Amino acid sequence: LCTTQSAWSERFPIFQSHIDLAQSYWSKLVKSGDIVIDATCGNGHDTLLLARLALTADSGYLYGFDIQKEAIDSTRENLQSQLSLPLLERVFLHQRSHSNLVDALPSGCRPKLIVYNLGYLPGGDKAMTTMLDTTLQSIQQAQALIANGGAISITCYPGHLEGLQEESALMEIVCQLPAATWSCCHHRWLNRKNAPSLLLIQKSLKAE
Ligand SMILES: C[S@@+](CC[C@H](N)C(=O)[O-])C[C@H]1O[C@@H](n2cnc3c(N)ncnc32)[C@H](O)[C@@H]1O
Repeated sequence: LCTTQSAWSERFPIFQSHIDLAQSYWSKLVKSGDIVIDATCGNGHDTLLLARLALTADSGYLYGFDIQKEAIDSTRENLQSQLSLPLLERVFLHQRSHSNLVDALPSGCRPKLIVYNLGYLPGGDKAMTTMLDTTLQSIQQAQALIANGGAISITCYPGHLEGLQEESALMEIVCQLPAATWSCCHHRWLNRKNAPSLLLIQKSLKAE
């Protein structure tokens, strides 16, 4: 039985984890100088990668959100230990819900990538999980904000009830999006019970 990430990678070199898979899409999409958003910072692992992809000493912005003070503190510490001061000055972390992204961002902000890693922090308070209503509110705003050619990346955790409801509701909405403007795909492991899944929604470069 594979219990760790490295054990999976050793046995299935092309079938990576949902995290590796998501990050490989981000790396392909995000260029230096882009605006990126981590809508669920947690311990800041994803935030750090987004910072490395988008920020230079004089270009790019990163906005991070989490409702928990511990998560924002931990993300800040993670970034401070890894990034230079000029890059850190381009990072804005907000301890607030992602349900109102618009009010926390400068007007005219057009992010290239918005990342959601839904659910709760592993080992943390399970009550502090993302919730269906606020997740849907946030994704709706993300769709309006995202730059043409940009994407929304959502990792879903259907192994718990709220996560299952989030995944089902998101799938229903995403399947209805017009194909001329949105390209949507869902990656899920077919023989790993309750495994996380990855939903990617990209806006056309030629969207009106
Ligand atoms: C699975 S964790 C994210 C892990 C993170 N990406 C990392 O690299 O460590 C989900 C996070 O979403 C946060 N969260 C829950 N509801 C939220 C909301 N409405 N707005 C922003 N963050 C929220 C939780 O506090 C938790 O830290």
